[in-house]
Amino acid sequence: MAEAALRLDGVTSGYGEAMVLRDVSLTLLPGEILTVLGKNGMGKSTLLKTIMGFLPPREGRVHIHGRDVTRLPPHRRAGGSVSYSPQDQAIFQDLTVGENLRLGLRSDRGAAAAVERVTAFFPFLAQRGRQPAGTLSGGEQKMLIMARALLSNPRLLLIDEISEGLQPSVILRLAEVLRRECAARELTILIIEQNLRFALSVASRYAVLVRGEIVDGGRVAPGVEARIQDHLAV
Ligand SMILES: Nc1ncnc2c1ncn2[C@@H]1O[C@H](COP(=O)(O)OP(=O)(O)OP(=O)(O)O)[C@@H](O)[C@H]1O
Ligand SMILES: [Mg+2]
Repeated sequence: MAEAALRLDGVTSGYGEAMVLRDVSLTLLPGEILTVLGKNGMGKSTLLKTIMGFLPPREGRVHIHGRDVTRLPPHRRAGGSVSYSPQDQAIFQDLTVGENLRLGLRSDRGAAAAVERVTAFFPFLAQRGRQPAGTLSGGEQKMLIMARALLSNPRLLLIDEISEGLQPSVILRLAEVLRRECAARELTILIIEQNLRFALSVASRYAVLVRGEIVDGGRVAPGVEARIQDHLAV
């Protein structure tokens, strides 16, 4: 079996005395897209913070690309191979669109080609290079964030609720971009979502988080939407 891009074994973590995640185990193989779904406050963002090392697990292990990173600080977890798009992420309002994009580059080598590849996904970015990023619309800012995350050519991408507040056509575009990047470069994605349609249109597997525990999961297939909705309803 191929080495997992991401593996969590029995991870328990939280804030101070309060444990939010309980005994969470999951595995993502290279090129897979897993969506983690759950209602507000169930621990979805806490899961990503724990994977990134902003929150040390109380119990369990985290492996990224075969390496045990459980005790490593965020900056030593995976070099530049992991890209994390937090829920409350903002762009640099006073920098231009082009400057914001360049912050996503890991080196100057191949920069022009990388910018070209990513701006092809969101063509408006190429025309707005000199515009202050803070003057982009909310949806455009989300696309800039996604473009910046992809520019570093990550092998593993963690995305926290990117679809919030986006119009349907932009959501469709994002789904297409993520699927394409996965297929073309064996990018592995863990995507946190509340938009079930979007999540199931990109992911090949899902997991449902209820009060910090994974209560259901499996392949995305016809019929799973109703099943997941039942979990989200209670
Ligand atoms: N820094 C913190 N200190 C203490 N408790 C926290 C902290 N951050 C989150 N929590 C608590 O942990 C629980 C899970 O929060 P988390 O942000 O992981 O939920 P979520 O599933 O991402 O929710 P949402 O869908 O609203 O983003 C919540 O009860 C929250 O209040
Ligand atoms: Mg959250």
